Amino acid sequence: MNPLNADAVKHAAQTRLLGQVVRYWESVDSTNAALVRLVAEGALEGTVVMADAQTAGRGRIGKLWVSPPGVNLHLSVLLKPSLSLPETRLYTLIGSLAIADAVESHGVKAQVKWPNDVLVNDKKIGGILAEVQTHDGRINSLIMGIGVNLNIDRPGMNQLYGEAAAGATSLREAIGRIVDRNAFAARVLESLEQRHFDFLAHGKAPLLKEWRSRSFLGRRVTVREEDVHVEGIAMTLDEEGCLVVNLDDGS
Ligand code: BTN
Repeated sequence: MNPLNADAVKHAAQTRLLGQVVRYWESVDSTNAALVRLVAEGALEGTVVMADAQTAGRGRIGKLWVSPPGVNLHLSVLLKPSLSLPETRLYTLIGSLAIADAVESHGVKAQVKWPNDVLVNDKKIGGILAEVQTHDGRINSLIMGIGVNLNIDRPGMNQLYGEAAAGATSLREAIGRIVDRNAFAARVLESLEQRHFDFLAHGKAPLLKEWRSRSFLGRRVTVREEDVHVEGIAMTLDEEGCLVVNLDDGS
């Protein structure tokens, strides 16, 4: 067993903003939703919420994020940057790179896939759900939700994800051993904090450059948006953090 533990994460993380307060629940609907509730109670910037399991974990575009107990990482971090709404969108890229850093600290190569995925061996290992609350047009809170498959094994993925399991992996599967979830969470927080400070100090250019170099641009992609399905080659990430795709019809 490798229980998640708030104190263990606090002590392991070499950070000065993220994780000064870490709240842990054995089971919660969604760590993002729990953090929204804590914001309403005045939670401080840097507050972290972790849960062993989620009953209604949220994924991108309204999808459910499957969160069984005892194996993976479900964590949300509260930031309060004074940025515009478009700038906060770049935090999905920052979060993906932070997950990729923590994965690579275990000796395997990780790649980022637009907009919010982290892949190992071309399979999804984790993702980010960044959610923003505004008040009078200003950013009140930016909640970075981080989900990573750490210790779930192949039979577990097959059972949970069904057909989609072929496109999923875990760090345990990639490195062949159990991962310390608290140490992994601490690495994510350290990287996220450093990348947050770097972004505030140096702007988006270095972030976009690094994201491009750690993604797999140049490959064929399918873009699915509501009822539109188009195919083409992923060319680059533009200055707003949007993916530029060269469609088969030349557009
Ligand atoms: C995605 O790839 O669709 C994003 C998944 C993000 C899942 C994490 S798990 C912790 C946090 N709480 C949530 O409800 N969602 C995020």
